[in-house]
Amino acid sequence: MKARIVTLPGDGIGPEVTEASVKVLRTVAELFGHAFEFHEHLIGGCSIERYGVALTDETLAACRECDAVLLGAVGGPKWDNPNAPVRPEQGLLALRKGLALYGNLRPVRSIPALFDASPVRPEKLKGVDLVVVRELTGGLYFGQPKGRFGDNGMVRAVDTMEYHEHEIVRILELGFRLAQKRKKKLTSVDKANVLETSRLWRQVAVKLSQNYPDVTIDHMLVDTASMRLITSPASFDVLVTENTFGDILTDEASVLAGSMGMLPSASLGDGRQGLFEPIHGSAPDIAGKGIANPIGSILSAALLLRYSLNLESEARAIEAAVDQVLAEGYKTRDLNGACSTGEMTKVIIDRFVSEQKD
Ligand code: IPM
Ligand code: MG
Repeated sequence: MKARIVTLPGDGIGPEVTEASVKVLRTVAELFGHAFEFHEHLIGGCSIERYGVALTDETLAACRECDAVLLGAVGGPKWDNPNAPVRPEQGLLALRKGLALYGNLRPVRSIPALFDASPVRPEKLKGVDLVVVRELTGGLYFGQPKGRFGDNGMVRAVDTMEYHEHEIVRILELGFRLAQKRKKKLTSVDKANVLETSRLWRQVAVKLSQNYPDVTIDHMLVDTASMRLITSPASFDVLVTENTFGDILTDEASVLAGSMGMLPSASLGDGRQGLFEPIHGSAPDIAGKGIANPIGSILSAALLLRYSLNLESEARAIEAAVDQVLAEGYKTRDLNGACSTGEMTKVIIDRFVSEQKD
């Protein structure tokens, strides 16, 4: 098949891990007879340097016209000034919103080879295989009003958590449909004892659950959920939650997988097009050293094949190659190993290639 893929390497380790994924995707294309075209654009801090904005209209237009977007990471200390009028993160938020990608899937698996890289005890990690479905274009990130307001010389900062019912319906439906394909268990995470948006969220969830009798739903407060993710992580299947809650819970959940560097994500809307990015940030402390873990990005490329290009066997083959390599003991530094980004990528590609030849 033919596909047009926009790459947005971004800042920090973004370019290093994206390069790794592009190599993997080129290998997939070669072995399976696909024609993938890659078009690279700027986003985040590097776009601010060049154009003064974190995402240009041209880049957004290029993303609208492609089949899938592969992103590295945005941000860095250089652009961290709280008074700066533009921030790298704005580019990412504008891209998610601009492409209407409201559903962010963040799968988390604990694999035995990485149990010792996690601070959580191995007996708790056994069987952990969950997906957080994070609402991505609403909630506290996007609600209005938002900003700084001066009242009689007193500064006031406002963020608003806002949801329209239809936004809650579509994200919960995504969660239910995903649960139907998995262990049929959906945990709707909210803060309904305090927040009005959460009370609406819970009502919608209760009502919708009647349409999915095969899925067992439970409702959990976000503070409880953050505890259970550590005390009984294997009890979860699909969690669905508000934008900010999902952001926080997935950094927490990443320790179950051994490292932030392991987790991929897929951001989806109503069509097939998606944005695929590791959940980790730009990691400025290790940028340019060639030691970043490329697996979060490589697994994001697998999700790209699965969700945007409908290439399930290719996606599985990449995931199998990653599992194989980890089982053999190859690890990057974040997992207490010594492999460089390049070595890890090479060995994953080698296993992928030999799997296909067998
Ligand atoms: C993430 C990141 C982003 C977010 C930042 C970089 C804006 O933390 O994708 O989890 O908060 O969504
Ligand atoms: Mg985050």
